[in-house]
Amino acid sequence: MPLSCDALDHDAIAAWLRETDPAALAALWRRADAVRRARVGDAVHLRGLIEITNYCVRHCAYCGIAACAGPLRRYRMTLEEILACARQGRDFGFGTVVLQGGEDPGVTGPFVADVVRAIKAETGVAVTLSLGERSEADLRLWRDAGADRYLLRFETTDQDLYARIHPNVPGTLSDRFAQLRLMRRMGYEIGTGVMIGIPGQTWDTLADDILAFRDFDMDMIGIGPYLRSPRTPLAGPLGLELAAAPEEQVPSDEVTTLKAMALTRLVCPDTNIPSTTALSILDPSAGRVNGLTRGANVIMPNLTPPEYRVLYDIYPGKAGIHETAEVLADRVIALIDGLGRTIGTGPGSRGRV
Ligand code: 5AD
Repeated sequence: MPLSCDALDHDAIAAWLRETDPAALAALWRRADAVRRARVGDAVHLRGLIEITNYCVRHCAYCGIAACAGPLRRYRMTLEEILACARQGRDFGFGTVVLQGGEDPGVTGPFVADVVRAIKAETGVAVTLSLGERSEADLRLWRDAGADRYLLRFETTDQDLYARIHPNVPGTLSDRFAQLRLMRRMGYEIGTGVMIGIPGQTWDTLADDILAFRDFDMDMIGIGPYLRSPRTPLAGPLGLELAAAPEEQVPSDEVTTLKAMALTRLVCPDTNIPSTTALSILDPSAGRVNGLTRGANVIMPNLTPPEYRVLYDIYPGKAGIHETAEVLADRVIALIDGLGRTIGTGPGSRGRV
């Protein structure tokens, strides 16, 4: 089957996603790694993740911090606490911090703008936001405050499936593609992504998702396996109801996730692709390395203080839940050294070739 970027149309991508032959997959891994090296180099960029709030007004059917996924003790970090984490990231040599949280109106537009300004003034690192669907006014305020990037996964191009697992907040219409377009016009670098193996995701849908990454020319693309989160509807009857026929349903396993990542590297050769936390949960011993050797060039070590990290419970099994940020950072740096790769310096923005 063809592996050149231009030949990867919908049918070729869907066929590659279903591929199980070890020799063919070995060729896919080699090609993804070669394109990664040629287009974005050997540097692995480190983005320190700060999970600033676990409050959320949405009811995403898969997510353990959704409003309906109770009971869960909720927290919101203060400006000082967030700033302390950002300083620590800068001291570890990270070029970016990512402020992520549930969709939390209690984390107001002006508050986030103050946080972005404080981080920029004190540390100079790049700031990525990942705070869900927000108003145009908030996004503009944050961009003006100096935010560089925004992550908003579109999760699936199948509009019916999207609607089933993302109930609208009454009175609003969820349109993540519209927000991604708006943010691009505002000058953000934009990141998106999907989970692999959500009930109802078919091989054809996933091929469309990968083509959408290319059509939207996404700057960052996060792909991780769907992990069943016990207190959520998708882990229960809704998951059974939505599941596609067995031969069409994408499994939420490691090799399928890696195929999607490798194909994404081929169709979006100069984008930034993280080896995701969810992948490392599915395979604690090798997940991160497998991602880095099959297309990924970014890792997002967790900087959230352990007492909050345990409460940011989007899925079960988060590794190193009680470990300090230092221990997590050291481990990631050793892993990159072990692969003979280098640590990225500077903000690690997307370079367009
Ligand atoms: N399994 C895997 N990933 C999940 N996310 C949320 N819930 C889960 C889950 N149960 C992902 C979503 C979200 C990102 C921050 O975490 O894709 O965009």
